[in-house]
Amino acid sequence: MSELLAVEDLTITFPTGRGPVDVVKDVSFTVGRNETVGIVGESGSGKSMTSLAVMGLLPRGAVTRGSIRLDGVELLGRGEGEMRRVRGEQASMIFQDPLSSLNPYYTVGLQIEEMYRAHRRCGRQEARKVAVEALAQVGIPEPERRAGHYPHQFSGGQRQRVMIAMALVCSPKLLIADEPTTALDVTVQAQILRLLADLQRETGTGMVFVTHDLAVISSIATRVLVMRRGEQVEYGTAEQVFAEPRHAYTRMLLESIPRIDDELPADEVTS
Ligand SMILES: Nc1ncnc2c1ncn2[C@@H]1O[C@H](COP(=O)(O)OP(=O)(O)O)[C@@H](O)[C@H]1O
Ligand SMILES: [Mg+2]
Repeated sequence: MSELLAVEDLTITFPTGRGPVDVVKDVSFTVGRNETVGIVGESGSGKSMTSLAVMGLLPRGAVTRGSIRLDGVELLGRGEGEMRRVRGEQASMIFQDPLSSLNPYYTVGLQIEEMYRAHRRCGRQEARKVAVEALAQVGIPEPERRAGHYPHQFSGGQRQRVMIAMALVCSPKLLIADEPTTALDVTVQAQILRLLADLQRETGTGMVFVTHDLAVISSIATRVLVMRRGEQVEYGTAEQVFAEPRHAYTRMLLESIPRIDDELPADEVTS
């Protein structure tokens, strides 16, 4: 059986004043059904570009080499209409900032309903029922009442839950989460991570979890791709990458994870 997602030699090129530049170069990874793969790297390393390429959200011609197969089917070169069907129904993405992805003028219930109705033939009432269930599934209390509220009436963490509900409402096979917890404070971040891990387990959705924070990956991913300046510096099982990182850059990322048992050397202790 083929992998759920197979990205091969993905290269993304942007024109600049100094000529074309590869912002992502020869990146390859796979995501199995029911698996979470982490993509980690500092800001600007090409994580979002890679995610957007999978979703077909880059300008035409930006992907200059490689292959992206979802469930064995090549996505590159497909038309916008086809990609619109793929998005939401087969692959969904959530972003760092849920406020910019939600429409402030519509209730969250309506936005989830619309997402559902864009892909499924059904009436208003059925869609409303599905939306309320989706809100319940992501742990929004009183989902029936909350469905009638607007995005600004939710906290940052709850808005991210709403985004997750919207992303999963059509039961996609693949979920790409691009720094979904970066804008949240640490406690809420942990709650959202647990929710994503639980939903992943319950639904069997394959997940790509993008972050600049290797510590976050350790709790959620089975495999890890480390990116730097558009290139893939390391790719392996989470165990492998954490236990014996091959690349100096990965070791540096690992060393920057604070540990509870860390003891500061005497000369670094400041008060
Ligand atoms: N519209 C654009 N034109 C040219 N280069 C871009 C554009 N958008 C982003 N980049 C460059 O692409 C690289 C990768 O960006 P991105 O994928 O957003 O990084 P990450 O998500 O890892 O922080 C960065 O070096 C960035 O400067
Ligand atoms: Mg990014």
